[in-house]
Amino acid sequence: MTPAGRFLSLDDYRRQSPAQTWHALRSHPVLADLTDMQVWDLVAWVWEANTTAGALREGAALYRANCAACHGEAGRGDGVMAAALAGDTLAGFGHSTKSPADFGEPQSMLGASPALLQGKIVRGGMGTGMPYWGPIFTEEQSWALVDYLYTFQFQRSSPEAGVEPPGRVHGSLDPSVAPPGGGRR
Ligand code: HEC
Repeated sequence: MTPAGRFLSLDDYRRQSPAQTWHALRSHPVLADLTDMQVWDLVAWVWEANTTAGALREGAALYRANCAACHGEAGRGDGVMAAALAGDTLAGFGHSTKSPADFGEPQSMLGASPALLQGKIVRGGMGTGMPYWGPIFTEEQSWALVDYLYTFQFQRSSPEAGVEPPGRVHGSLDPSVAPPGGGRR
């Protein structure tokens, strides 16, 4: 069991967007004295506690090999193939009218649950240039990728700290980005 398992099962963690977790923690009376930013730190800690150093390393390697060409090394949706996609000129990917998603954009990333992102990786974006990876990756690999995608929003407390998080992770965003309704589906 992950340390966060005491508070949130892995299933619950995967079903909830970071924005929903933020709203749940924010409304908890015990945490009333925390600033909004400190509540985001807790959200980042929940993420860190539900992944492992090994999963993040695997996710990073898979991302560099399979995703960075479109989504960019830093996740900003600006990989070498992005321009071709947006211009609808890339042969071999069908019609591709959308730019690759920008994982540095808090509104969409923090509004998306791990399960939603994993589903998109497995199924791809029909009618966009997002390939479907279901037949290529194991389920474990797809979750490692999802864990890694959140590194474009959250910083680990210490990359060398191993699996046991000391709980000093910093969310990288302004609390006002949290969608009031609690995120997308
Ligand atoms: C050929 C270019 C291309 C490659 C390679 C690619 N993607 Fe995408 N991806 C896209 C495009 C284009 C979209 C936008 C689809 C949309 O908005 O519906 C997208 C969307 C996504 C989304 C949905 C984001 C959201 O907020 O809804 C996720 C998650 C994603 N990609 C993950 C990955 C991962 C992980 C990999 C590597 C295993 C990858 N992509 C490889 C082009 C690509």
